Amino acid sequence: DTNFFESIERIEIIACGTSKHAAMVGSFLLEQFSGIPTHVFYASEFRYSPPPLAPNTLTIGVTQSGETADTLAALNMEIKRREQFGNDLYKPNVIAITNRVESSIGRQISNIIDVSAGIEIGVAATKTFFGQLLSFYGLAITFAQIKKSKSTQEINKLISELTSLPPILKELVNTHNAISEKLAHDFSDIKDVIFLGRGINYPIALEGALKLKEISYIHAAGYPAGEMKHGPIALLDKKVPVISIATPGKVFEKVISNAQEAKARDAFLIGISPKSDGTEIFDYLMPLPVIDEWLSPLASIIPLQLLSYHIAAHRGLDVDQPRNL
Ligand code: M6R
Repeated sequence: DTNFFESIERIEIIACGTSKHAAMVGSFLLEQFSGIPTHVFYASEFRYSPPPLAPNTLTIGVTQSGETADTLAALNMEIKRREQFGNDLYKPNVIAITNRVESSIGRQISNIIDVSAGIEIGVAATKTFFGQLLSFYGLAITFAQIKKSKSTQEINKLISELTSLPPILKELVNTHNAISEKLAHDFSDIKDVIFLGRGINYPIALEGALKLKEISYIHAAGYPAGEMKHGPIALLDKKVPVISIATPGKVFEKVISNAQEAKARDAFLIGISPKSDGTEIFDYLMPLPVIDEWLSPLASIIPLQLLSYHIAAHRGLDVDQPRNL
């Protein structure tokens, strides 16, 4: 319904964990590509401190399982407070992005984007994270078309690159499966890993760190690369690998210069980047294909997921059933 999309002036997204990271990429796209002010909230925070009500707002709940209590409660609370407000401009407009249409969220919300990635068997969400990203690309493109935030040419270029990605990413999975397996041997005894990314890849740094923590039990933290010098840099020495996502585009040089700062502290630098001028700085390069910067998270997440998988497997851990989760 074009009118529905046209009327939306701002977006709030509610999610937890990996779904929150997908939502952060989504938020970047919805703001920067589709031109709509967007905020992402941890569902557990939103429940107890929701933002002041704003008119013409789309609320998006993102949950792989469709059963996360905080996400359901935050979404229901938002629907209720908007209904109670009783002003048509403030009425709830809700979409849920889930991989389980037959779930609580599927029963409660009528506008569903079905991620359709098949059952996520492992506790650590991977393919459904990718599917959530694709859902956001679909939404951002639709908004951009309706709001005319980008030219038809730019939008069509993005759609055509997006549709040409599957064979490229398939090859990336194969290459990085082998690379990560080798790298995992050197990494299985490390205690801390820092992940850096900027712009659209900052949430990918967060997700890389979360995946490593939850399946390999190695402490990891993700930062916007430009923030590293404001504290986390104190952690660095040669025992702390720094994994830096440096995709071609607006912030490439910036990320390389942040990597230089880490190198000056003797950190072992791993680059997630296409080989190019500037990437010699990395002690080890996990090569990416060159793709449009808007689409780069779809590629940069793959080596990070595979690396976590192989490090956990090398440590003899059950990658499908992490402890405590
Ligand atoms: O099913 P949900 O997407 O609502 O789950 C949210 C988080 O609990 C979930 O993403 C968690 O962080 C995963 N273990 C990540 O792999």
